[in-house]
Amino acid sequence: CGIVGYIGQLDAKEILLKGLEKLEYRGYDSAGIAVENAAGVQVFKEKGRIADLRDVVDMTVDATTGIGHTRWATHGVPNYVNAHPHQSASKRFTLVHNGVIENYHLLQDEYLQGVTMTSDTDSEVIAQLIEHFSNEGMTTAEAFRKTLTLVEGSYALALLDAEEADVIYVAKKGSPLLVGVGEQFNVVASDAMAMLHVTDQFIELHDKEMVIVTADSIQIQKLDGTVVERAPYKAELDLSDIDKGTYPHYMLKEMDEQPAVVRRITQKYENEAGQLTIDPAIQQAIQEADRLYIIAAGTSYHAGLIGKQYFEKLAKIPVEVHIASEFGYNMPLLSKKPLFIFISQSGETADSRQVLVKVKELGYQALTMTNAPGSTLSREADYTLLLHAGPEIAVASTKAYVAQVAVLAITAYVVADQPEIELKKELGIAANAIQSIIDRKEEFAKLAESFLATTRNAFFIGRGMDYYVSMEGALKLKEISYIQAEGFAGGELKHGTIALIEDGTPVIALATQKEVALNLRGNVKEVVARGANPCIISMEGMEEANDAITIPHVHPLLSPLAAVVPVQLISYYAALQRGCDVDKPRNLAKSVTVE
Ligand code: G6P
Repeated sequence: CGIVGYIGQLDAKEILLKGLEKLEYRGYDSAGIAVENAAGVQVFKEKGRIADLRDVVDMTVDATTGIGHTRWATHGVPNYVNAHPHQSASKRFTLVHNGVIENYHLLQDEYLQGVTMTSDTDSEVIAQLIEHFSNEGMTTAEAFRKTLTLVEGSYALALLDAEEADVIYVAKKGSPLLVGVGEQFNVVASDAMAMLHVTDQFIELHDKEMVIVTADSIQIQKLDGTVVERAPYKAELDLSDIDKGTYPHYMLKEMDEQPAVVRRITQKYENEAGQLTIDPAIQQAIQEADRLYIIAAGTSYHAGLIGKQYFEKLAKIPVEVHIASEFGYNMPLLSKKPLFIFISQSGETADSRQVLVKVKELGYQALTMTNAPGSTLSREADYTLLLHAGPEIAVASTKAYVAQVAVLAITAYVVADQPEIELKKELGIAANAIQSIIDRKEEFAKLAESFLATTRNAFFIGRGMDYYVSMEGALKLKEISYIQAEGFAGGELKHGTIALIEDGTPVIALATQKEVALNLRGNVKEVVARGANPCIISMEGMEEANDAITIPHVHPLLSPLAAVVPVQLISYYAALQRGCDVDKPRNLAKSVTVE
């Protein structure tokens, strides 16, 4: 979910709606704004996208204070009633919330007997609690603070009081939130990107802080009332980076940027002598560890699986890769000197963050690899390596994955004693290979049409590095085209899942790993014998006559950088041909800030 707020001299509605449009990647099940003037608070909300919300906002309301929200449903189905903002019974208090309040049922039982709830959300309980304490005689600041001390879970909150048109109350714990600073106005946002059209000065908030924001003041307090001073920083983001220009979709733009991303990363991690390098403190931390634990979710987890190969093959350091949401309660026996590596495009994924909090409590060191400088995972880890991919807006991750693989390769290379690869040169070759693949877009559009136009399901197979790319290919296809897809190790499909192969079932086979290419082709024969429709993606030097696509030769360790591009493009065109919303697939959000 995403939050915005504005308090100043200008029309709040337009600034909030623009901000929400920029935050739509965080969820788009429903959206709403509340604006406040001397006459009170007015709420507009709607199921669906920000464009749907725009249609229901009364543009004649004159207000210079307001808050807004775009939702990725957690508690309660995505409908009008459950959309934010939520209000207390008397409608005096209006709030937007991102996060999950775990004990809301208990709080409801203890304090809100007799209060009729209008929604199914944990968020409404917060508004009702504030009203409850306010009715007991507390000021709004006191009632807000009291409520914050009672709730368990995570929150980013912005609150309006109908009796105080010149204040927004704000609080944060677990979920990201920033306060932006302007001339005679101030703003609130889950992500600086949302308010870049009005300011580039932002103040970070820490967990369990409450902020009283007016048009010309920002007062940060801890929950015990102590005032905290904190200077703003400049958000180093370029508005043009978050614009899709002439592209029909962000995903297409972001796939096209991949060669440039690999080249940029090579430059960013180069010293003056032109050698690849990373921060010596990080190098030392990795070298001193006896085992690396990579923690990530979704596409970043798939990049982590490739990272394991790099650290083990190049640097001879043992690695475990874990799904963040499982690790918290299913922690393996740890080695004596572990180092945790969090891979996260957004740096905000709550599943990963809860692991980070846990391992920090246990006293271990952590490194975050992220595309978002200043993100929660970056701030809370001991070290950060940036992905330098530029903002990624499409929900399906493409260039960030390529960036993660490249930065993992560089890191493993730098910590290795005698890496058996000329990495800088090989990254250059990989960047060129990606370029030549994306220059052949029509071929992928045709492949998608012939293999995926009407199918219900599809399989991706590969061995070694290609297996990990198969998993990423299947995820991409599922996310944006809603075709049921699975990625399998080439040899594994026959141990059960082959039962699903029917006449015409597409099997996309990656054959870029020389030592196992023949075995993989054997697996393809097995499925073809059962009626499958094979689409073989091979690499120059090991191609055969009937391969659907042959990609340029790259170093076998770096083949995921190139091999992922065909599966991204095929997924993109499949989604397009099936009429799906490529950039904003149903039920998903780019940055999932709840566990
Ligand atoms: C969400 C996105 C995925 C992404 C995952 C991890 O579920 O939809 O595309 O891979 O989160 O995100 P992160 O920002 O931590 O890499």
